[in-house]
Parts: sequence; structure tokens; C-alpha cells
Amino acid sequence: MDIVMLHPSHIPHVQTCNITNLPENYFAKYYLYHALTWPQLSYVAIDLSKPPKSPHDPPKIVGYVLAKMEEEPVDGIPHGHITSLSVMRTHRRLGLAEKLMRQSQKAMVETFGAKYVSLHVRVSNKAALRLYKDTLQFEVEKVESKYYADGEDAFSMKQNLDFIW
Ligand code: ACO
Repeated sequence: MDIVMLHPSHIPHVQTCNITNLPENYFAKYYLYHALTWPQLSYVAIDLSKPPKSPHDPPKIVGYVLAKMEEEPVDGIPHGHITSLSVMRTHRRLGLAEKLMRQSQKAMVETFGAKYVSLHVRVSNKAALRLYKDTLQFEVEKVESKYYADGEDAFSMKQNLDFIW
């Protein structure tokens, strides 16, 4: 397994991974905006166990984190935001999401001086909540009522990055 920075050529494969795993989907131009504006913050996990047969074959992308810096932070504090994270079912519980998240968080601090990172997650998403709360030590800031298009509430979560690196 290899974790590499998101490249524009990865975008269609990342979109497939996103659509397979999450109901929150985005146009290709939104991925491209992330990749071109904050190239250090978004990563993909590539399965190298079945190398492509030809140089034209696409890499096997099995997970991604799409992240950005908040452009106009209301609190005036530079901070990052996780737009989307997912790992294909076949490749879960291998530590990929944790690795993708840590790589992005490190770059938020080192490249952009982020003080914290925020995200939204469905209140029913037990797996992601375990990852964020227990593994990565995010804290719940507040509940955002009916945040998602289907009416589900979101936890707005935050992790302080001051002490990490
Ligand atoms: N049940 C309980 N705890 C879990 C689970 C689970 N199904 N999955 C992960 N965790 C916790 C565990 O503590 C785990 O450590 P352990 O395996 O040593 O017990 C820890 O998180 C790290 O797990 P990873 O292997 O790094 O997680 P994985 O690569 O499997 O990806 C993810 C987790 C991203 C939540 C995956 O299940 C997924 O893609 N789900 C569907 C999409 C999704 O919900 N994405 C997050 C939406 S929120 C957002 O995008 C900002």
C-alpha cells in the first residue's frame, strides 16, 4: 500500500471511491480545486499488490482524504478542514484512514501553520466516530441540526493541532 499526494489524474478514481462509500459527492472541479490550491493536504491510498499490466492502466485507488485550509476563518485562526474521507470496504481496518488523516494533518501544520482541524460527520456514523474520537482525539464542538441533505444531524468536530508536531 502506498500513500501519495492527490494528483489531478487520480480524480476520476477518487470520485469512484467517494461515490461507492458516501452519499456526499462532488463535481470533479471541486477535487481539482483542492489538488491545485492545497496540494499538500489531500492524499490517496494505492494498492500496489496488483501492479498495472500496462503504463496506461489506472492506479488502484482504495482510499482518499480530501482536505483544505479554511479560506476565511470566522474565528481568525488558521485551520484545516477535512472535506471527505473514505476507504473501500475491501481495504478497511488496515489503518489506511488513520494514515491518510495523519499525513494531511501534519502538512496542515508544517505547510500552512494550522492550529486545528475541523470536520463534519453523521451522528450515526459509528466507524468514523471511533476513528475521529478514539484514534485521532477529535472532540465534538456542537451538533449541527439537519446538516445533511437527507435531514440527518452532523457532529461538528475539532482537533487541536498545537501539541502534535
Ligand atoms: N468500527 C469501529 N471502529 C472502527 C471502525 C469500525 N467499523 N473502523 C475504524 N474504526 C476505528 C478503530 O478504532 C480503528 O482502529 P483499530 O482497527 O486498531 O481498532 C481506527 O478507527 C482506525 O481505523 P482505520 O483502519 O484507519 O480505518 P479504515 O481505513 O477502515 O477507514 C472509515 C475508516 C474511513 C470510517 C471507513 O470505514 C469508511 O470509508 N467508511 C465509509 C465512509 C465514511 O464514513 N467516511 C467518513 C465520513 S466523515 C468525512 O468524510 C469528514
